[in-house]
Amino acid sequence: MVSIFVRLHAALIVCLFIAIPCLAQSGQQSSPQESVDWPLHGLNHAEQRYSPLADINDGNVSELGLAWFTETGSSRGLEATPLVVDGRMYLTLSWSVLLALDAQTGEELWRFDPEVDRSRGYYACCDVVNRGAAYADGRLYFGAFDGRLIAVDAENGQPIWETQTVDTRYPYSITGAPRVIDDKVIIGNGGADFGVRGYVSAYDSRSGALLWRFYTVPGDPAKGFESPAMEMAAETWSGQWWTLGGGGTVWDSMAYDPELDLLYIGVGNGSPWNAELRSPGGGDNLFLTSIVALRPDDGSYVWHYQTTPGEQWDYTATQHILLADMTIDNQNRKVLLQAPKNGFFYVLDRETGQLISAEPYARVNWASHVDMETGRPVRTAQADYLAGPQYTLPSQVGAHNWHPMAYEPRYGLVYIPVIEQGYKYSAEQPFEPIRGLNTGLDLFEPTPPPDVLRASLQAMHHGSLVAWDPIVQKARWRVDLRKPWIGGLLATAGNLVFMGHSGGHLSAYRSDIGEEVWRGLTQVGVMAPPVTYKVNGKQYVAVLAGWGGSPSQYSGPERDRLPASNGRVLAFALGGDTPLPATRPLPELPEPPELEGDGVTLETGEKLYSLHCGRCHGFGAESHGSIPDLRYMDSSTHQQFEAIVRGGLYANRGMVAFNEILSSVETESIRQFIIARARADWELRQQPQWWRRLKRWLWDVLMPLVV
Ligand code: HEC
Repeated sequence: MVSIFVRLHAALIVCLFIAIPCLAQSGQQSSPQESVDWPLHGLNHAEQRYSPLADINDGNVSELGLAWFTETGSSRGLEATPLVVDGRMYLTLSWSVLLALDAQTGEELWRFDPEVDRSRGYYACCDVVNRGAAYADGRLYFGAFDGRLIAVDAENGQPIWETQTVDTRYPYSITGAPRVIDDKVIIGNGGADFGVRGYVSAYDSRSGALLWRFYTVPGDPAKGFESPAMEMAAETWSGQWWTLGGGGTVWDSMAYDPELDLLYIGVGNGSPWNAELRSPGGGDNLFLTSIVALRPDDGSYVWHYQTTPGEQWDYTATQHILLADMTIDNQNRKVLLQAPKNGFFYVLDRETGQLISAEPYARVNWASHVDMETGRPVRTAQADYLAGPQYTLPSQVGAHNWHPMAYEPRYGLVYIPVIEQGYKYSAEQPFEPIRGLNTGLDLFEPTPPPDVLRASLQAMHHGSLVAWDPIVQKARWRVDLRKPWIGGLLATAGNLVFMGHSGGHLSAYRSDIGEEVWRGLTQVGVMAPPVTYKVNGKQYVAVLAGWGGSPSQYSGPERDRLPASNGRVLAFALGGDTPLPATRPLPELPEPPELEGDGVTLETGEKLYSLHCGRCHGFGAESHGSIPDLRYMDSSTHQQFEAIVRGGLYANRGMVAFNEILSSVETESIRQFIIARARADWELRQQPQWWRRLKRWLWDVLMPLVV
């Protein structure tokens, strides 16, 4: 079987020489050949996630069924885009485990576990996820959560080289997929919510040697600047930002245009979020929340566009960067498209960085519009939370997060998985840096009673699949979904858009009108983007199902508690009829111990829980993710509570010890708060079911009218 790479490279060379816009052609061919790979993270360097495969299409999609599934043995969130090369599938799991499967059967061929120190899991803002590997010339490259970049032989899973890309004294992490350009492996990192200085680096694919590094925020000026770009950026900062890190991590998106020879990176939020703490007196704080174009040869700066100058809402511009060629105002434009967290959809000229247009693709209240003269957002009164709390749209998780979009060149549409939710921003006063999340915001909010919490979250928070026309900057169609968090996307020439759901299924929608035409059960909530490929003449659609990540931690409870929780890879094909295993019954909330804590204890416990536990176990002590919901603790866990929390009993499973952070009395106050929460829910469940159903129904009907 001839590798698709030969054809892919041939196609690119033709593109380069005859200089026609043919980004859409690179990556996958639609000829009736035996096998078609998914060789790159976004399918092609333009990261379009549009496959010309159409054997599975809107006419026969009802015959789509499960061809195979493989349990991954991983119980934490799964976000990876699988790669498929020469009949093999390569993917990454939680804790950065790399796995190779037979793409036709799902049989495990090998796995490589980099054995990440579980205590590093403390520095996961959003679970110990990994979004995938890169493949080139028989090797796989991937980032480990602890900051290592590792090269592995794709044939047998044997390590070839590894290199530490971060200073491990700081709370850096890697969750994003590397990209390979010629003989360079490009990788960024995460950690801006904890306090680090962001950068992206290139390593020699043969040896693992560092070739160049581009910092995204300036360091201490007294030590000199690494580049003219850093000198320019330092003009836009004030105070002593470098002592707090500054932020600007490049934790997810990149794209590459071989014709222009430009690498595009998406830069993250400020560290801390509160801009006044980071850079007193203001300033744009370059290159936070920017798209930056670099020369892949030496990492030199070419241009940048900043989406949110002086950002203070965690409005990263690390969201999917997608390249396309389109006719705008009768001109052929090479554009770069992004729907960053801040709620505006940007169309940029990717040669120059010039703003072509920007319009809101979701509800936005922090800015009225983007001024086309200056290219800057025009802030509203709701933007300023220093004077007092503000309910701001979008929330800190963004109107769109890391979940990949997809492009449909025939309709000129970009499909966006949109999150509609707001957040109450209020400044932490005074700011006390902790060993943990350092946002400079008051993340503590008193927990409303359980019924109200659930109802208000559901009423205000929902998601939608939006088909966006970037030329007119309007939605062509929109599917409203009750849940805010939906999976990443795949578009195919079969007139289908595939998307997974937190409720445990994968859906197919007609690309032209958005009608849902198929559902396949996954049993486990899906966050990851599906891929499609062909082996021996058969087309498959595959996806990782594994709930966790930021959705389970920051988005409040999803209504469904799903019967299965361990991750799996599922591949669907026409005529597939593999049965899924029988599900186990949902655990019942056990009767909690008697409450002993008084009002003051509960208040302290709630505050400490919000500060130290909520980001993993769920804010409001309710989580439907992969990290235990502490309301469900059994009596022996209650007894071992201090040994677990302060003593590190489960440290090797990712539950770090808090002995240096919390006293015994404080720990017990947290336990009392959890008991109070659990008792309230348990007592609720003792009420007759018809009454609970009626109340829920009333909330569902009435709340949308109120909010
Ligand atoms: C960085 C993420 C993280 C943070 C922060 C965190 N935990 Fe955990 N915790 C975990 C993980 C992961 C487990 C599950 C380990 C396993 O059993 O696999 C766990 C398990 C537990 C358990 C055992 C639950 C059971 O039913 O077995 C308790 C109790 C617990 N955590 C309490 C706390 C408290 C209290 C805090 C705040 C002071 C906290 N945790 C903060 C990740 C975290």
